[in-house]
Amino acid sequence: MTYRIAINGYGRIGQSVLRACYLNRERFPDLKVVAINELADLDTLTYLTRYDTTHGRFPAAVENDGRRLLIADDAISVFNEPTPECLPWGDLGVDLVLECTGSYSDRATAEKHLHSGAGRLLFSQPAADDIDATIIYGFNHRKLKLSDRIASSASCTTNCVVPVFNLLDCAFGIDSGVSTTIHSAMNDQPVIDRNRQGDLRLTRSAMNSMVPVRTGLHHGIVKFFPHLRGRIESVHLRVPTINVSLMDLAINLQQETDAASINALFREAAAGDLQGLLGYSEEPHASVDFNTDSHSAIVDGTQTRVSNGQLVKLMVWFDNEWSYANRMLDVARYWLGLGK
Ligand SMILES: NC(=O)c1ccc[n+]([C@@H]2O[C@H](COP(=O)([O-])OP(=O)(O)OC[C@H]3O[C@@H](n4cnc5c(N)ncnc54)[C@H](OP(=O)(O)O)[C@@H]3O)[C@@H](O)[C@H]2O)c1
Repeated sequence: MTYRIAINGYGRIGQSVLRACYLNRERFPDLKVVAINELADLDTLTYLTRYDTTHGRFPAAVENDGRRLLIADDAISVFNEPTPECLPWGDLGVDLVLECTGSYSDRATAEKHLHSGAGRLLFSQPAADDIDATIIYGFNHRKLKLSDRIASSASCTTNCVVPVFNLLDCAFGIDSGVSTTIHSAMNDQPVIDRNRQGDLRLTRSAMNSMVPVRTGLHHGIVKFFPHLRGRIESVHLRVPTINVSLMDLAINLQQETDAASINALFREAAAGDLQGLLGYSEEPHASVDFNTDSHSAIVDGTQTRVSNGQLVKLMVWFDNEWSYANRMLDVARYWLGLGK
């Protein structure tokens, strides 16, 4: 059986999802992108699929015929439609919309895609509390039900932190913690300073500064660990690289331990139950080593520190684009497969 996917919003995440579908055919053999809706014109979209500064040239021919994106033997319908109720998802038999615009996160707008005939919708960001589920693949994806219609894959940062927190909490008990996300630049930042509504620091040049921006990661974490409500804080810095991010965690544990035991915990999980989702390395890495790496989190064992037995410092790498796109597809495949 083949599941028919539409991508709404063909920016960094939308493009990564399409690429991951083709490059990881073995992992996603039954997922097929049949439509893209994006505000940019088809020629631009074709060009951005063919050439990608971050992930390289597309490994197959990419053309268009004036209406559709042509990749290898596939013809993907392309729409330029800002209003979801006008999209022909029913006619195209779309099983799932991957909502990657970043423009909204509410149930009512998501439902417009369902009214247009899509079977389900998965947000590429944390969404409103009244959606059916927020899923971290590898942690709680088995909670998805066949009857669920609108879900979220949370954020790339939550996908990185949750498996790490879960292992630490089960092994030693987490008392409290603070996360610092050191995140590559994103398209909500200007190349040079530019007027913009909202977070003032997002008006500043992405190329020239480390820029602290607002984050709700601590809210995202306690959704999955409600017993830690009020005990987790987070800050977020954007830095002038184009991809790959680092999670810097400072965590107070309930039990005493040491760096070797912490590293052993992650090394074993990476080779065991969380293989493919959690990585572990003691190589002398720089961030670019993880470009186009699909693990949700890679613990850098060389940076683990423990102070006074209970205060743990961890550094965890993640490709914010590629890992997240792969997790969206993992969630999509599991969710759609429930109907089989
Ligand atoms: N980048 C990451 O590392 C990352 C990781 C995980 C999750 N996310 C989340 O994923 C979402 C998208 O992020 P992104 O980095 O991919 O952003 P992006 O590169 O700006 O892509 C968003 C795309 O959606 C298009 N768009 C906006 N409104 C639309 C509409 N009504 N209909 C169709 N297309 C529309 C935009 O077109 P215009 O440019 O013309 O407006 C743009 O091409 C955000 O919520 C972000 O937080 C991002």
